[in-house]
Amino acid sequence: MFQGKSIRVQALSDGVVELCFDRQGESINKLDSRTVGELLEAVTLIGKDATVRGVLVSSAKDVFIVGADITEFGGWFAWPEARLAEHIRGLNKSFTGLETLPVPTVVAINGFALGGGLETALSVDFRVMSTQAQIGFPEVKLGLFPAFGGTVRLPRVASAQVALDWIPTGAPAKADAAKAAGVVDEVVAPEALRDAALSLLKKAIAGDIDWRAKRAVKDAPVNISSDEARQLFTAVKEKVAKQSPKHQPAAMAAVEAMEKHFPLKRDAAIEIEVTGFAKICQTQAAHSLVQIFLNDQLLKKKFKEHARNARPLKQAAVLGAGIMGGGIAYTSALRGTPVLMKDIQQKQLDLGSSEAQKLVAKQVKSGKLKPEKAEAILASIKPQLDYAGFDQVDAVVEAVVENIKIKHAVLTEVESLTRNDAVIASNTSSLRIDDLAAPLQRPENFVGMHFFNPVPVMPLVEVIKGSKTSDTATSTIVGYGVAMGKTPIVVKDGPGFLVNRILTPYMLAASRLIADGADFVKIDQVMEEFGWPMGPCYLNDVIGMDTGEHVFKIISAGFPERMQVTWKDSVGLMVANKRFGQKNGVGFYSYENDPTGKPKKSVDADSHALLATTQSKGTREFSTQEIIDRMMLPLMVEAAHAFEDGVVDTVVELDMALLLGLGFPQYLGGALKYADWLGLDKVVALSERYAGLGPMYQVTAKMREMAAQKLKYYAI
Ligand SMILES: NC(=O)c1ccc[n+]([C@@H]2O[C@H](COP(=O)([O-])OP(=O)(O)OC[C@H]3O[C@@H](n4cnc5c(N)ncnc54)[C@H](O)[C@@H]3O)[C@@H](O)[C@H]2O)c1
Repeated sequence: MFQGKSIRVQALSDGVVELCFDRQGESINKLDSRTVGELLEAVTLIGKDATVRGVLVSSAKDVFIVGADITEFGGWFAWPEARLAEHIRGLNKSFTGLETLPVPTVVAINGFALGGGLETALSVDFRVMSTQAQIGFPEVKLGLFPAFGGTVRLPRVASAQVALDWIPTGAPAKADAAKAAGVVDEVVAPEALRDAALSLLKKAIAGDIDWRAKRAVKDAPVNISSDEARQLFTAVKEKVAKQSPKHQPAAMAAVEAMEKHFPLKRDAAIEIEVTGFAKICQTQAAHSLVQIFLNDQLLKKKFKEHARNARPLKQAAVLGAGIMGGGIAYTSALRGTPVLMKDIQQKQLDLGSSEAQKLVAKQVKSGKLKPEKAEAILASIKPQLDYAGFDQVDAVVEAVVENIKIKHAVLTEVESLTRNDAVIASNTSSLRIDDLAAPLQRPENFVGMHFFNPVPVMPLVEVIKGSKTSDTATSTIVGYGVAMGKTPIVVKDGPGFLVNRILTPYMLAASRLIADGADFVKIDQVMEEFGWPMGPCYLNDVIGMDTGEHVFKIISAGFPERMQVTWKDSVGLMVANKRFGQKNGVGFYSYENDPTGKPKKSVDADSHALLATTQSKGTREFSTQEIIDRMMLPLMVEAAHAFEDGVVDTVVELDMALLLGLGFPQYLGGALKYADWLGLDKVVALSERYAGLGPMYQVTAKMREMAAQKLKYYAI
């Protein structure tokens, strides 16, 4: 009857037709504009055919429909709001067309039906779902909300409560939960799905079940009294306000759209959804979160390329069972790579092992790990004081103390005891990979593997390629990082590698603001409100003032042309006064443990007095915007320098490293995405305004050039 590139319609028997999603040349179905267009063509044809008595909607893939085609969003974002609303209004015709066919319809949901996939299913009269399928609206995770009638149909099909639970969280539901929520009508085993759907359709055709009544509910206002609705929305808004990350308004906007359209009939309700969606598409969060999704895809592609180049890695070893080594050994074992854990002190081995035991026990308690699996994991970590078995390992991660002499001794020793093709990685935080490689016989097999603390939690690993590191060694360590569940990003060797290099000017900017008279508490408050998980002064306390000072000094020494500290540095002052931060109970703030043993910060009166000694011109009030600009500008500038210096291949890797390594605010999308959002002309103007603060605040020549040509770092 109809053959498109994503949809075909075929007559079955007894007046039943099947509308099957079967995207040509791909293993999944998705709702790009072409498919939505085909859906309208298909339902128009079916609607005109008087011989059709019922429609089965199905998929020929393992999934039903995974959702919209996210690569199209960039184009949408470039349009003015009104044009986008008009476009989405047009696309909605396909779904109302499907919903208003003159015959009953049943959908067989065989696999993922997410976003637009679920919206398609909700446009049908009855939903039969495989026990293996999952459905949901993940749009808020992209800074958006459903716009093909999802916010309208879900509360009308299931209930107000279900819609207000599902849409703002974006969590998918398995079959039983979907049935219990009333979103689907039947749940059956995958092999019984088609027959069950057809049998339901036949009952509807025969008039045994009232499909018209079911459909009428979707055209009507949501069945809830205005008093009930008021109470429900008050409670939901409070919850959503608490749960939503800062500057991510999509979940709340979805709730507000529903509040407006619950008392309306379908078409008017869809209009509210469409205009709300067009508005949310203008937000910074939507642009950034969609970009992050696309970035993630690019990284996955890169991992696949590395996998082709990597050596197999079946057995690993870690040198040093301290904070980092212990965490690396645990994460490796947990994710299936057995590991030898060598230290020179038994007490450290005991500490490393007991930490691993605690972490595994936690996983068992939370139900994430079966007890027998937990035992196997712990057994795959071998604590040892000698090098037994090192001749068998495929890779070694060195995590001993940060001292080049000790590291040289340890690395040359381990190189002589391992196979010629074993890769040796160092988890150094501040030493150059080329410097560490100097005494090695096989520098091509040596690479940096910079984890972030705490290792089991932090997703980023910088894989540092020294000038002699081979592609194979790099790819092997990227593969190891992926196997550990991390996101490895390959960076060039250099002071601070990537993330700490870009962080340094930001931290120096805080110190400079304090010296210029700003209150450190206000700086922290402003930056936290701006979206950072913690302000820069609090971060210094958490890192440890002495550790931070050491690392930032090494990095700024690497870039003397712009990172010289020409003012009285507050971090140095804190160190001189033995205020090391959380680790000794006092830094910028003072700390006391709460009843659960977690350090709780309070503002310490002495801090202000001490910091006053750095403020030669006394204190002064800074506006919120001034603090944000003075903090973020040097960070963007350094990100641009790092990119221009070729520290990473792509802006995607640069921004993703910041998001994953620093907890950089998601709604900003990374330093360069943020620069794009502001507009490079605005960044240049800011740089001119703060020219007096020195070279750290000066945009690069390339940034000026890009601004003049109205260029961006990203295509969208
Ligand atoms: N702590 C962090 O936040 C962090 C973050 C990233 C990278 N790093 C880097 O990781 C490395 C380790 O740091 P850490 O914080 O785990 O230190 P740590 O002091 O907790 O642990 C170092 C361990 O190395 C052991 N060790 C010393 N000499 C050894 C040898 N010859 N053979 C085997 N073990 C030996 C020590 O006994 C100790 O257990 C350093 O290079 C550090 O710069 C640390």
